[in-house]
Amino acid sequence: MKKLALMLCSFLLPAQGQANVEFLHWWTSMGETRALDELKQQLNQHKIQLSPSPVLGGGGDTAMTVLQARALAGNPPSFAQLEGPSIKAWDAIGILHSVDATGEKHQWDQTLYPLSKQINKSRTGYVALPLTLHRLNWLWVNHVLLQQLDRPVPSTWEEMFELMALAQSKGIHPLAVGEQPWQIAQLFENLVIATGGVTFYNQALVQLDKESIDSEELRSALRQFRRLSLINSASLQDTRWDTATKALASDQALFQLGGDWILGDLLARGIDVPKHIGCYPAPESDGMFLYNMDSLIFMKSKSFSATQANQVADILADKEFQTRFNQKKGSIPVHADIEMNGFNPCQVKAHQAFELALRQDKAVPSMIDSMAVNPVAQQAINSEIFRFYRDKSLSEDRLIQRIIAIAISH
Ligand code: BGC
Repeated sequence: MKKLALMLCSFLLPAQGQANVEFLHWWTSMGETRALDELKQQLNQHKIQLSPSPVLGGGGDTAMTVLQARALAGNPPSFAQLEGPSIKAWDAIGILHSVDATGEKHQWDQTLYPLSKQINKSRTGYVALPLTLHRLNWLWVNHVLLQQLDRPVPSTWEEMFELMALAQSKGIHPLAVGEQPWQIAQLFENLVIATGGVTFYNQALVQLDKESIDSEELRSALRQFRRLSLINSASLQDTRWDTATKALASDQALFQLGGDWILGDLLARGIDVPKHIGCYPAPESDGMFLYNMDSLIFMKSKSFSATQANQVADILADKEFQTRFNQKKGSIPVHADIEMNGFNPCQVKAHQAFELALRQDKAVPSMIDSMAVNPVAQQAINSEIFRFYRDKSLSEDRLIQRIIAIAISH
């Protein structure tokens, strides 16, 4: 421990200035920027200046391509946002700094949720710093519009479809959706957990088990998905997720379905949540918790040493900072010992749902980004799902064959 303290203190700042570190990320929406400002300030307080390198595109697909290209060119950022099993794949190449010393100092083994440990720790110790835990099976409901329709919040997909049709007949936009593959895939995964439950979801879309993909459950989810694509065909085209959230917040859309980064944006817009916009488990997914987790990886380079990496990690591992960051981001903490005081009621609900789902083995990784399957397979599957959603002439069987082909080749 003493050795670590010495190591951290000996991080040499440039003679009369602040140390400068570069961060590659995809946090560019209003709520994400607000959370990122917390990170900037936290480092600033420790005389480290942050140079953010934002890569547009929620979900991180483009950011991952940029990160790979920069790593290959030998020009990586100091640290980067990353998710899930791909952390270990990056570590296996040998270009990540270990942050095990930081993990030991902050007692991560004792305080992190088991899944935070499992995602961020390799055989040699911690290779990433976990920061956020997001719930993805959330239905965000505009209460002003719902009141006009004089209906309760839907708890089944059948009720949801009825309500969306009713909204449409009254000229209300039913569902705000960003028309990008990872967001459309988010709708699909929500239908899959509703149709088959988490065990089936895990087999079909995480383990990519051929028989589960080629099954009646998946076909049934696809039929619902097709219905959704037909209802939403006149939707906001080519919209980003945060543009969709803007429509929800300004009473132009009844629902949005998706991760609680939406909450971060609603809060940044000054929306009263849950009074104006409420959060409910996506239909037929109560008790389940579809998650993703943002982590930070620290990358080896001539200008960023292991000592510097651990100093930055040490500052960002601070629990008060992690609390402030998550409060703004809309997510919940990755540590089991962080109190939920001062969090939004939707975050408190998410936290309770997460702890319950953990006990009941109903917390599952989302498949929309690299949380569940490797990024290449994930992007290929998302594109196929997106194609099916857009091209109403494509059959369920064709999509199933395409997903199986991807599963076999990975
Ligand atoms: C990340 C979130 C981010 C969201 C939208 C997800 O992949 O985990 O942190 O807010 O994409 O950009």
